[in-house]
Amino acid sequence: MRKKIVAGNWKMNMTLEQSLALIKELKEELQDYQYNNTRVILAPSFVSLSAAVNETSKVNIEIAAQNMSQEERGAFTGEVSAEMLAAVGVDIVIIGHSERRTYFQEIDAGLKAKTKAALANNFDVIFCFGEQLEDRENKKHFEVVEQQLKNALFELEAEDFGNIILAYEPVWAIGTGKTASADEAQEMHAFIRSILAKQYNETLANSVSILYGGSVKPNNAAEIFSKSDVDGGLIGGASLKAKDFSEIVKAI
Ligand code: PGA
Repeated sequence: MRKKIVAGNWKMNMTLEQSLALIKELKEELQDYQYNNTRVILAPSFVSLSAAVNETSKVNIEIAAQNMSQEERGAFTGEVSAEMLAAVGVDIVIIGHSERRTYFQEIDAGLKAKTKAALANNFDVIFCFGEQLEDRENKKHFEVVEQQLKNALFELEAEDFGNIILAYEPVWAIGTGKTASADEAQEMHAFIRSILAKQYNETLANSVSILYGGSVKPNNAAEIFSKSDVDGGLIGGASLKAKDFSEIVKAI
């Protein structure tokens, strides 16, 4: 059975002190939560990762990085390697978030290299992709999503997908308060599963968790998560409030 996953992407929010306070609050909110088949993941900023790992060492919450370098080490000012992340106990990374694509010019080829580097270091990758508003208006959203996946992921071996979590995030829904409807999310997730089945096989397609991201809030999470091909969410804004995020976790 594929895992249900709720991941909080804190983006460039929360100092170290604020991060620890938020994790403490979340631990309280989720004290009696039965994780069963669900993974709860938080992605604080790099500077809070080590402390976040310590703060969550006795609970089921996992810690992810928001980005990493595809390079092993060396003269790459400002970058953080897989080895550095692993050394502080992080082995999950978000790759390909639309903000990285838009503001930092990350393109499919680089995302492919990052994904390969992460997998080579035994990381789980939360791979983000999704269409722009104009793609959807021009009815090109399926084509765009298929191309993004092909370009970055479809040279991977089937067994690599054991460590890949897909996060469909229509760019027009991120931080805008607009969400794809539950039916639109389901339609795209089913499409993604169909292209995975075509490229690899049915078993693989059914084993990969596909998250929806884009303005998921406590009041819409349950409906979106109720869809059969939606295995959870990647949550931005609402992950910054312990109550909201824990409600979303409980909605899965
Ligand atoms: P949002 O962000 O929930 O604030 O729309 C989602 C994301 O960027 O992962």
